[in-house]
Amino acid sequence: MSLSKKTMDLPQKVTLVEVGPRDGLQNESQTIPLSAKLQLIDDLATAGHTVIEAGSFVNPKWIPQMADSEAVFANIERRSGVRYTALTPNLRGFERALAAGVDEVAVFAACSEAFSQKNINCSIDESLQRFAEVMAAATKANIPVRGYASCVLGCPYEGEVSPQVVAEVTGKLLDMGCYQVSLGDTIGTGTAGSMARLLDVLLADHDAKKIGIHCHDTYGQALSNILIALQNGISTFDSSVAGLGGCPYAKGASGNVATEDVVYMLNGMGIETGIDLDKLIAAGNRISDVLGRASGSRTSLALAVNE
Ligand code: HMG
Ligand code: MG
Repeated sequence: MSLSKKTMDLPQKVTLVEVGPRDGLQNESQTIPLSAKLQLIDDLATAGHTVIEAGSFVNPKWIPQMADSEAVFANIERRSGVRYTALTPNLRGFERALAAGVDEVAVFAACSEAFSQKNINCSIDESLQRFAEVMAAATKANIPVRGYASCVLGCPYEGEVSPQVVAEVTGKLLDMGCYQVSLGDTIGTGTAGSMARLLDVLLADHDAKKIGIHCHDTYGQALSNILIALQNGISTFDSSVAGLGGCPYAKGASGNVATEDVVYMLNGMGIETGIDLDKLIAAGNRISDVLGRASGSRTSLALAVNE
C-alpha cells in the first residue's frame, strides 16, 4: 500500500497511556518521595492525560520503588475523566489494587519463557493461569483488565521472538477478557520493518482497537515504530513523560518513548491527543529535576534551547 493511502487511514484521535509513574519510575534506584510521585501524577492529569498508570502491586522485594503504591493511590487527587491504573501480577496484587481503589488493572505476560521466568518467576502458561484468577476477581469487582505482551520484538535472553508466539499470547489474553493488549517492545530492538511484519500477523486476527503499542526507545526506533502502527489503524500508545524508565529485568532497556516526543509528532500530523504539550513538558521537567538529570525528551530539550 502506498504511503498516501496509508496516510488517509490514519486515526484522527489517539489515546496515550501515560506509564511514567510506573514503568518510568520503577527502575530508579534512588527512593522517590511520595510527594514527587503524587505531583507527577497530578501534573500529567493537568496536562490532559486520561489514562495514567500510577503504580504496581507486585512483590515489593522485587520492585522496591513501587512499594508505596497503596500510599500513591490513597493520596492521588482524582480528576474526573482520568483513569488511574496499576499493574497486578497475581491475585494477591489484584486484591491490593482493589483495596487501594484502582480504576483499572493490567496483567503482564511475556512472549519469551526466559523473560517470563526473570520478570515474574513463572512460565508463560503459569502466568496465564494466574491472570485468569485476576480476571475472575476483576470481573466480579467490575474492574477492566488490560493485558501486556512483553518482548514482542525481541527478548534480552532469547533474542528473536516470532510474531506467531506474540499472536498466540495476545489471543490468550484477549480470550481471557482483557479489553486490549499492549504490545511491549521491552528492549526497543524493533524497527519499522519488524513492527510492520508483527502487525501483519496480529491484525489478521485482531481488531486494531484491541491492540496498543508500548515502545521503549533504546535504539531510537520508537517514533518510526509508532508511525507504522498508526498506519495500521492502531490508536492507543503507551509512553512515558521525559522518556523515564527501563525494565529491571531487561538489562540495557532504556525508557519508554518520551510522551512529549509522541505528542509533538502527532500534533504535526494533525492527530488529536487532548494533551497540552507545554504543560506536559513542564511535568517532565519537574520530575527530571527531582531525579537530578535532564529530560529524556528530545522535544523538551529542543524547545528549551529555542526558548
Ligand atoms: P514470587 O517471589 O515468585 O512470589 O514472585 P511467590 O508467589 O513465590 O511469593 C513470594 C512472596 O512474595 C510471598 O511473601 C508473597 O506473599 C509475596 P513472603 O511469604 O515471602 O513474605 N507476594 C506479593 N507481595 C506483594 N504483592 C504481590 C505479591 N505476590 C507475591 N502481588 C511475583 C512472583 C510475580 C509477585 C514477582 O515475580 C513480582 O513481583 N514480579 C514483578 C516484576 C515487575 O514488576 N517487573 C516490572 C514490570 S513488567 C514490565 O516492566 C514490562 C512492561 O512495561 C511492558 C513492556 O515493556 O514490555 C509491562
Ligand atoms: Mg515497559
